[in-house]
Amino acid sequence: MRHLIDPMDLTVEETERIVALAEEIIADRARFSQACRGKKLATLFYEPSTRTRLSFTAAMLELGGEVIGFSDANSSSVSKGETVADTVRVVRCFADIIAMRHFKEGAPLVASQYAGIPIINAGDGSHAHPTQTLTDLLTIKREKGRFDHLKIGFCGDLKFGRTVHSLIKALSRYEGVEVILISPEELRLPDYMLQEMSARSKLRFREVRTMEEVMPELDVLYMTRVQKERFLDEEEFDRVKDSFVLDPSKLTTAKSDMIVLHPLPRVNEITRAVDNDPRAAYFRQVENGKFVRMALIYTLLRWADENRPYDRTPVFSEEYLTGITCPNKRCISATEDVDPIFRRGADGVCRCAYCEAKAR
Ligand code: NCD
Repeated sequence: MRHLIDPMDLTVEETERIVALAEEIIADRARFSQACRGKKLATLFYEPSTRTRLSFTAAMLELGGEVIGFSDANSSSVSKGETVADTVRVVRCFADIIAMRHFKEGAPLVASQYAGIPIINAGDGSHAHPTQTLTDLLTIKREKGRFDHLKIGFCGDLKFGRTVHSLIKALSRYEGVEVILISPEELRLPDYMLQEMSARSKLRFREVRTMEEVMPELDVLYMTRVQKERFLDEEEFDRVKDSFVLDPSKLTTAKSDMIVLHPLPRVNEITRAVDNDPRAAYFRQVENGKFVRMALIYTLLRWADENRPYDRTPVFSEEYLTGITCPNKRCISATEDVDPIFRRGADGVCRCAYCEAKAR
């Protein structure tokens, strides 16, 4: 049994195999139209979503499988106080694979301990979003033809943007990638990621405060929404919300083959006029999301049938540190009765296994 909780749960080879499978599916969709016949996907979405949930649904339907689930925690037993652990123990009786989105960081990891069927993290708090990463990688592959030797600007909400966190991790395994972080001071990439990058990744990275100063160098510009729902303080949100808007005038200095990505939804950070620019790849990116989720569901179900052990998702028999409480209020361990698990990272720092917050 294998899960996809964090982009690093897949090796580079496995990631590339899934991306390549998505390209095969694009080339010959009919060949896969019954590939998951008789299988059911449960989409458990505790947080709003349009694209991610619908693209999981469309993906499973196009594989000939079926879909059950909920798109609103209030319509499920969660509103009665059911834990994630119990919910997935119930859902495993009805489905073969689960895609879970949760506002609490680490909820899908908790689910993976109890489900007995593959769990896909469809976004947990501001922590991770590995299937968006696969979507982004497939888009980069199709548009740029490679994952290495790229200069990628990440712009906007780098603090709360889980898509950014996951894509940077995935890219940190390639040669010659340079990441340029473009954000206001308040929305800088979390410290744990900056430290992790300096400690072990191959990435070169630097921080700047405007996109204009780096535009001519970029191969990819990854725009993000300033996420109101992640702010604990509304005033702080109001102060930063209009920062970093991409419009056609800013694109004039960009390379002719640069691409603009965005996980969507966009609010106002890319003006409508940019949509007509051939470099705007964000709607092509959405469609790629469906194909790569087809490839992922197919692969995880096959691995489950082969009984492939999960060797990268944390194994809970491994040695871990106890007696510590996670300080992150958004962590699943703050509200549910889960075993606290802490691991020491490559940089020597001890972090919560669910949300990666630093232990105090
Ligand atoms: C993103 C998400 O939910 O993390 N959207 C997505 O999955 N396509 C980004 C966002 O909500 O801003």
